[in-house]
Amino acid sequence: MQNLFNQHIEYPSFEEILNEYSKEADNYLPKEGNVFGFWMQTLADIQFLDLELSGLTKDYKIDALNHKVYFNDDYEYIIKRIAHLDLVDSKPTLYSYLIDLFGDTNAYAFHNLYPYKGKFYPRIVRTIINAYDLQEGDLILDPYNGCGTTTHEAGLMGIDSIGIDINPIGNIISELKNELLFVDEKEYELNTNDLVKIFDYIENKKRTHKNDIMYKLFLMLYFDTKDAFIRTTRYNKKGMKGLFIEKFNYIKDCYNKTKKYLKEWNINYKKAIIKEGNVLDLKSAGIDDETIDAIITSPPYYFSLDYVGKDKIAYDYLNEIKFFNYKMEDVKKEYLGMKIKPNIPARKLLEKRVITYFDDLEKSIQEMARVLKPGGKIAIVIGDSTLNGRKLPTTHKTNDYCLKYGLKHIRSVFNPLLGTRNRAIRGESILLYYK
Ligand SMILES: C[S@@+](CC[C@H](N)C(=O)[O-])C[C@H]1O[C@@H](n2cnc3c(N)ncnc32)[C@H](O)[C@@H]1O
Repeated sequence: MQNLFNQHIEYPSFEEILNEYSKEADNYLPKEGNVFGFWMQTLADIQFLDLELSGLTKDYKIDALNHKVYFNDDYEYIIKRIAHLDLVDSKPTLYSYLIDLFGDTNAYAFHNLYPYKGKFYPRIVRTIINAYDLQEGDLILDPYNGCGTTTHEAGLMGIDSIGIDINPIGNIISELKNELLFVDEKEYELNTNDLVKIFDYIENKKRTHKNDIMYKLFLMLYFDTKDAFIRTTRYNKKGMKGLFIEKFNYIKDCYNKTKKYLKEWNINYKKAIIKEGNVLDLKSAGIDDETIDAIITSPPYYFSLDYVGKDKIAYDYLNEIKFFNYKMEDVKKEYLGMKIKPNIPARKLLEKRVITYFDDLEKSIQEMARVLKPGGKIAIVIGDSTLNGRKLPTTHKTNDYCLKYGLKHIRSVFNPLLGTRNRAIRGESILLYYK
């Protein structure tokens, strides 16, 4: 019998196998014309493409099977704006340039600065901005701005925006995304020793930088690092300082790449106005009647995500060093649906919470309708969450409230969240209206 163990068999390497298959995959994608790429996976992606084209040009036809789109006009404009085409007129779009530069369809510029819970996909924001054909000179509002995805994306497209949120940690992140680009590049010239020193300073509750923005950046990177070590042992080998340094170098890379992108595409980044405020009282946040061209927003799903809890490390630290004076519990009380009168018996608490949540959601939609200009547009991203195993009609309620306050429905797109681990939310809807 032949000794199999002595036989020398040359297997192709993993890399070689991958290369062969990816060459074959390339053959299936058209290389000329107006082409959308392989990452378009769901029917919702095709609907988003359709939405964008409806805002950016008049006549077009989508040939989904062959990954092609046909239109006659507006090539230059579409190249600079569209988020769902790889090639326009056989040339790479700005968006495909951006995702190639950063190697990710959503984590470009400073969008990935901090893992804020429940944040938007930037691509969806860009899609909505295109669907509404918003321009420089228009004003976009997100009254649930979270960590500033709407405001950052608007800035990257050269459009003015205002972001409001009740969460001071979210507001710090939004402000950073707004400001980091304008910090002198010398501030980013830090070697490993400098970064270790900065880590030690922060660990010992000492201020590191005179520059407010850099100080806030390092604080957020520190909290993110700490949080990672609480959640997983994955980084133990790297060590806390190693991870901290890696996170800083990532931001530095984003700084250089974002500058390159803005320069090469001749875009004037528009800083947003970031304000702390309550969506239920936008007047106090300085938003007057009929002043906003478009709202792009996503209310908290509340029953699914504990938005504040995750930031405990940040609250504890920032209160201790007297950087600010916010008690996490007080902020939480201002959250949509959380203002419940004391003395409610425990068994009644949950039903009271559900009712308060929907009452607040309604009030917030009334407020948003008030501040929109006549003809202004609104897009609400919302999903149905599950409470005690029962689904709540959040999407339908949102639609009812919009219609009740005079908003006219344009279209809705359901976006399944594939691969989500959280069984409570299986997808979200993007609801579009005008006033
Ligand atoms: C789904 S998250 C929005 C995330 C955001 N789209 C992003 O990309 O970061 C909902 C946000 O609503 C905020 N929020 C909750 N209640 C609020 C209120 N009463 N006024 C303003 N913001 C509120 C939360 O702090 C949270 O950031």
